[in-house]
Amino acid sequence: MERTLIVFKPDAVQRGIVGEILSRFERAGLKIVGAKMLNPDYKHYFEHYEGIGTLKTRKGDKIFEDQLASMQEGPVIAMVLEGVEAVEVVRKMVGPTEPKSAQPGTIRGDYAHVTYSAAASINRGVSNIIHASAEKDEAEQEIAHWFSDSELHDYQTVHERFTQPAPHKAKK
Ligand code: TYD
Repeated sequence: MERTLIVFKPDAVQRGIVGEILSRFERAGLKIVGAKMLNPDYKHYFEHYEGIGTLKTRKGDKIFEDQLASMQEGPVIAMVLEGVEAVEVVRKMVGPTEPKSAQPGTIRGDYAHVTYSAAASINRGVSNIIHASAEKDEAEQEIAHWFSDSELHDYQTVHERFTQPAPHKAKK
């Protein structure tokens, strides 16, 4: 099983759509193994977005600083989800970074519509509802950055019945 990090950004928390969005992941059978609300400081976001995500290196100071300021507009809800190829599956459900380009049916396409340029013109990071780890090794680094081992939990979901070895052979 694979684990991935999601973070409901301040826009999702303040719009009151966390439950609605979370239900999509639960419905798909992804298992919540960690969850908390927090208000991270600049240093935490610096490590998340540059140390792990290289956003400043890739996109420059303005986008980076706008994004960190936007994340600091309020508390966020961080979760670790587990499932078969969870990193790729969750990214597919979340959609691409720019909401205007995200297809209907994805979270960013269904809950937002704005563009990079509109966000940049008002000195905001693009409000795209949710963060999700992009790659497997990024997910491992992000989970370790946001959660301690004792905050991650082991239990059985009903869905796991269908992702574990079959209990019997076909009846003839
Ligand atoms: P990035 O890691 O490139 O995308 P993703 O969140 O899809 O993994 O960017 C991190 C965040 O920075 C992104 O969710 C929103 C913000 N951002 C902008 O505001 N403008 C931009 O041009 C880019 C690339 C990102």
